Amino acid sequence: MGKALEGVRILDMTHVQAGPTCTQILAWFGADVIKIERPGSGDPTRSQLRDIPDVDSLYFTMLNGNKRSVTLNPKTEAGNKIFARFIEACDVMVENFAPGAIDRMGFPWEKIQEINPRMIYASVKGFGPGPFADCKVYENVAQCTGGAASTSGEIDGFPTVTGAQIGDSGCGIHLVAGILAALFHREKSGRGQRVECAMQDAVLNLCRVKLRDQQRLAHGPLKEYPQYPNGEFGDAVPRAGNASGGGQPGWIVKCKGWETDPDSYIYVITQAASFPALAKVIGHEDWLENPEWNTPEARIHRLEQLFAEIEKWTMTKGKMEVMEILNPLNVPCGPILSMKELANEESLRNTGTVVEVDHPERGKYLTIGNPIKLSDSPSDVERSPLLGEHTEEVLKTVLGLDDGEIETARQQGAI
Ligand SMILES: CC(C)(COP(=O)(O)OP(=O)(O)OC[C@H]1O[C@@H](n2cnc3c(N)ncnc32)[C@H](O)[C@@H]1OP(=O)(O)O)[C@@H](O)C(=O)NCCC(=O)NCCS
Repeated sequence: MGKALEGVRILDMTHVQAGPTCTQILAWFGADVIKIERPGSGDPTRSQLRDIPDVDSLYFTMLNGNKRSVTLNPKTEAGNKIFARFIEACDVMVENFAPGAIDRMGFPWEKIQEINPRMIYASVKGFGPGPFADCKVYENVAQCTGGAASTSGEIDGFPTVTGAQIGDSGCGIHLVAGILAALFHREKSGRGQRVECAMQDAVLNLCRVKLRDQQRLAHGPLKEYPQYPNGEFGDAVPRAGNASGGGQPGWIVKCKGWETDPDSYIYVITQAASFPALAKVIGHEDWLENPEWNTPEARIHRLEQLFAEIEKWTMTKGKMEVMEILNPLNVPCGPILSMKELANEESLRNTGTVVEVDHPERGKYLTIGNPIKLSDSPSDVERSPLLGEHTEEVLKTVLGLDDGEIETARQQGAI
């Protein structure tokens, strides 16, 4: 069983998170990902948020598994020539530097196409063309400018960013889709093309249900929002706390032990089809005959009371116990699982979604494995490379450089 992207070679000019997320997925699928890093320091995340002195950080190691590391400075004379040979030898180049950085290295898109017309050139930028096109962007800037922050948070509270890295990793995943589409297209056209994804656009795409609600708002209040029926709606989609984004009301309720355990909560969705079973189990069979409760339209007026009654019941049980009782009744629910619980979750280890790998300097560490499972092309998860670990190997075997050429490049500080 071969790897899905075996034979595809990626020139990985990415750093921090958005770009490395993209190339790590391609590497999991079997592409040969050659990460080009600045000699001496490498990807800045190698030294950011370090937990062990002088050892590559988890920030770096968890985003750069399955890749080879080559140190190369394309701004030197020898480095520039070697970089051009990489363009010749690779199928896809991925980068997420600030706008114009690759051009300033001497490689605008026209030059790349001239060197290798089959090259697919994929970029993450903060914004697409427009007033902010030249801005540098990090995760939370994208969340704020893409609609996530304005629609997340407590009803009367601040705009809030989420811990899910929808700007960085979300954009990287979008870029993977673009690269795969361009690779498929190249099979027919014989030509590469540019693939671009802006972090603002990726976040907005992930927030599309809120743009849906913005348009619904013109036709009346959003009845599934906690502001309905008593609160006020303005002219933009409001924050909705933990209300369910779909048409089925849901909320987070406390479970036994919540006073001391910050994660002793569960999300419960009151789907119409399973409402009778839910009402019975929480001791409210009376609701089923009561017109004030027995239709979704009636309940929407008293969601606060509904979840308060559900909570009275969930507070008598642990979150996993609630899950075990509600699941067989087809009541959709999800315990709030902490990172500690997820790290130890056996089923995630069994599926390879959480993987332990061994690193020569840090020892064993946990990383996320490929969450996308292919039936005939499983992914192996490997540790991240040390800085420049593969420089010589790649220069010799991929580019065919000899010892003399490598020595000249070394003397110029190019590698
Ligand atoms: C993330 C970001 C804000 C970081 O900004 P930064 O740390 O100032 O880094 P930049 O991208 O501006 O610049 C990188 C510089 O390193 C240089 N560089 C990169 N790799 C190099 C190498 N191997 N050898 C020598 N120089 C190198 C670049 O040429 C550039 O120099 P220049 O600006 O003088 O031309 C910025 O890269 C960005 O906005 N990227 C696009 C959006 C993005 O991906 N954001 C999310 C990151 S998770």
